Amino acid sequence: MADATDLLDAGERLGAEELRTLQLERLRASLRHAYENVPFYRESFDKAGIRPEDCRSLADLAHFPFTTKADLRSRYPYGMFAVPRERIRRLHASSGTTGLPTVVGYTENDLSMWADMVARSLRAAGARPGDIAHVAYGYGLFTGGLGAHYGAERLGCTVVPASGGMTARQVQLIRDLEPGVIMVTPSYMLTLLDEFERQGVDPRGTSLRVGVFGAEPWTERMRQEIEERFGIDAVDIYGLSEVIGPGVAQECVETKDGLHVWEDHFYPEVVDPITGEVLPEGERGELVFTSLTKEAMPIVRYRTRDLTRLLPGTARAFRRMEKITGRSDDMVILRGVNLFPTQIEEIVLRTPGVAPHFQLRLSREGRMDALTVRAEARPGATPEVRQAAVRSIAAAVKDGVGVSVDVEIVEPESLERSVGKIRRIVDLRPR
Ligand code: DLL
Repeated sequence: MADATDLLDAGERLGAEELRTLQLERLRASLRHAYENVPFYRESFDKAGIRPEDCRSLADLAHFPFTTKADLRSRYPYGMFAVPRERIRRLHASSGTTGLPTVVGYTENDLSMWADMVARSLRAAGARPGDIAHVAYGYGLFTGGLGAHYGAERLGCTVVPASGGMTARQVQLIRDLEPGVIMVTPSYMLTLLDEFERQGVDPRGTSLRVGVFGAEPWTERMRQEIEERFGIDAVDIYGLSEVIGPGVAQECVETKDGLHVWEDHFYPEVVDPITGEVLPEGERGELVFTSLTKEAMPIVRYRTRDLTRLLPGTARAFRRMEKITGRSDDMVILRGVNLFPTQIEEIVLRTPGVAPHFQLRLSREGRMDALTVRAEARPGATPEVRQAAVRSIAAAVKDGVGVSVDVEIVEPESLERSVGKIRRIVDLRPR
């Protein structure tokens, strides 16, 4: 294999100074493009009393107003587009679990930039031209499948567009077509693991070498579990449809130390989720993105609700974002204590006798909210092992998170399996 640094593209080779210059130039052009072509931005900049030309340094971006999911919804479907509809080559839409979906659009150039960013991501993950890439992200309005697909083609891979679902067939395809690379949500990878075991096939014996996992939060424990059970490298890919889709940030396989943000195209900030104030590098807060090169739907200071922090570059000059702790929407406030599903994942996955499948059930007892962690026993786990697991999970949550929860160890194979993004929280509280 060629040394990874031989393969870097022009953007990845920029020095720190050159990168800042390029970012500022692109940022100014992008703000102007948004202001001149999207009435929403014209109104919101005017209201804040700021013009694109007021952005003279990267730090000046902090004076511009935020954009939220509600803003995008209120312009449903085409109101955020900055080019005539005829120039839009593709639409994607978010699932819209609450209310209207958000629609995003791409010009020809946007699609090409996106494919470049996913190709760059795959290369950082350790994929190479000529690899076979099995794409098990869902194809359709979700950006995962098609985003991964065109990026893998752009890199020069042979793509297997498996999409999500039909799990038995996925395993068959992996055995027969012998991909080196798999792209899938980490939770669906666990569903595939069950299926390998059900078919009596050793998951460590496949051709797979690297997995590129994202679209949902996952922990270091989960990385360890997947790497050990499949005998592969597991790396993290991040993105969101409002910014482009997968390929906004990617972890490098040689360091596995957080995700390099492809900041020649997507400018990151981390802000205090309450005050909106920009936080210095290293402090945890809400991730905010401004697109630097998008044509169809430029996005200015978009509040992702994802919680992380920015860190200096390592394997690449670009800054890194730490693995995401969770979304502010998924944070449970239990008797005054903030809790994220990822904290429970860390605990469940290190508990003996328990499978890596769990669910969080929120209920109300009187006026108090209660949380039950329901985790699955591993096949063959004895009643004593299950009892010990109940005690050890409850104690670890009490110690590590600072709140009491109920724990239930349920039968193997009894919790619903993921075919895409997993939903960890089941909220049974009366509305
Ligand atoms: O999930 C895009 C994607 C597809 C990313 C495939 C990676 C792989 P949306 O459906 O718009 O787009 O959801 C975006 O998913 O704001 C995060 O909350 C979450 N998310 C995405 N990647 C990660 C990750 C796609 N690596 C939302 N870690 C984001 C944690 C992630 N959360």
